[in-house]
Amino acid sequence: MNSLHKICALPAGCKILQRQFSVTDPCLEKEAFGLKFSNPVGLGAGFDKNASYLKELACLGFGFVEIGTVTPKAQDGNDKPRLFRLPKDKALINRMGFNNLGVAKAKQRLIEWNNTKTAELGGKMIVGGNIGKNKVTPNEEAWKDYEICFRELFDTVDYFVVNVSSPNTPGLRELQEKDSLTKILANLQNINQGMARPKPILLKIAPDLTEDQLADIVALSFDTSLSGLVATNTTISRTNLITETAHITAMGAGGLSGKPVTARATEVVNYLFKNTEGRIPIIASGGIFTGADALEKINAGASLVQVWTGFIYEGPSIVKNICSYLASH
Ligand SMILES: Cc1cc2nc3c(=O)[nH]c(=O)nc-3n(C[C@H](O)[C@H](O)[C@H](O)COP(=O)(O)O)c2cc1C
Repeated sequence: MNSLHKICALPAGCKILQRQFSVTDPCLEKEAFGLKFSNPVGLGAGFDKNASYLKELACLGFGFVEIGTVTPKAQDGNDKPRLFRLPKDKALINRMGFNNLGVAKAKQRLIEWNNTKTAELGGKMIVGGNIGKNKVTPNEEAWKDYEICFRELFDTVDYFVVNVSSPNTPGLRELQEKDSLTKILANLQNINQGMARPKPILLKIAPDLTEDQLADIVALSFDTSLSGLVATNTTISRTNLITETAHITAMGAGGLSGKPVTARATEVVNYLFKNTEGRIPIIASGGIFTGADALEKINAGASLVQVWTGFIYEGPSIVKNICSYLASH
């Protein structure tokens, strides 16, 4: 990203990158929850936590980027090391713990981006704001943290994702339980509906939910008028890995992403699509590396896809490769 940043700072740098990496084709355009996407390939949350690289990511052709997870106050996250590669499994394990500069800083960067982006560069790239709670905020008060982030970012992002599914903030995933979640979402929706132009609010869920819990999510999505669902976050499971068990144990706690979550994420997308009768758009996240992976998620019911671990292993051409594949299939 630092190299891309340097290239982008050169007079023709962005143009050259854009020519090399982006694919423009009307057949890739997609409309979802009231927004127009120039292509369905996005970058998942947690990569550009502080909205620092929107220009560079626009050059790489992303149809959308989800910044964050942003919390009200800046926080350091967990001690390092906190991110590990499992190359044999094409996977990552991370326990970053929502390291971010806080919502005010993200807001400032987003304002700068919105003021400087041009029609050719970034004009069409959708930006989502993924919001969370600070580690020190007790779960009973979590709804206030989501409200702070929502209000702060409201004018600067195109859509919101409520993240209650990261395994690296103690107790966060308990907020996926129906009552806690209803409280957070109903409050945000209440504020949202009072705005002149409400923004789409989506919910991001873990791949580790049981079928009963997924059924609750479906019901709650309708009850709180969610615009969409993001499925899925990283998993706490460690099954079916090729990497030696001792090695994995030594890495310690964290969320597993990449190839090992592909199948489960597709399963969850498919469950949600069937049980919402296709009425709630789904952003698929989890183990997408290739055009075929993306198409599998779309066939399971996803409207849009996001990459993250795939971006690490496949490199900067990932969007171009997926888009070219989708355009020809
Ligand atoms: C290092 C790292 C940090 C992440 N941070 C966040 C985050 O802050 N918020 C979030 O919602 N998801 C976060 N994720 C999850 C990704 O957005 C994505 O949902 C997950 O990794 C599954 O997709 P993948 O298999 O393509 O990586 C993170 C993932 C990784 C690998």
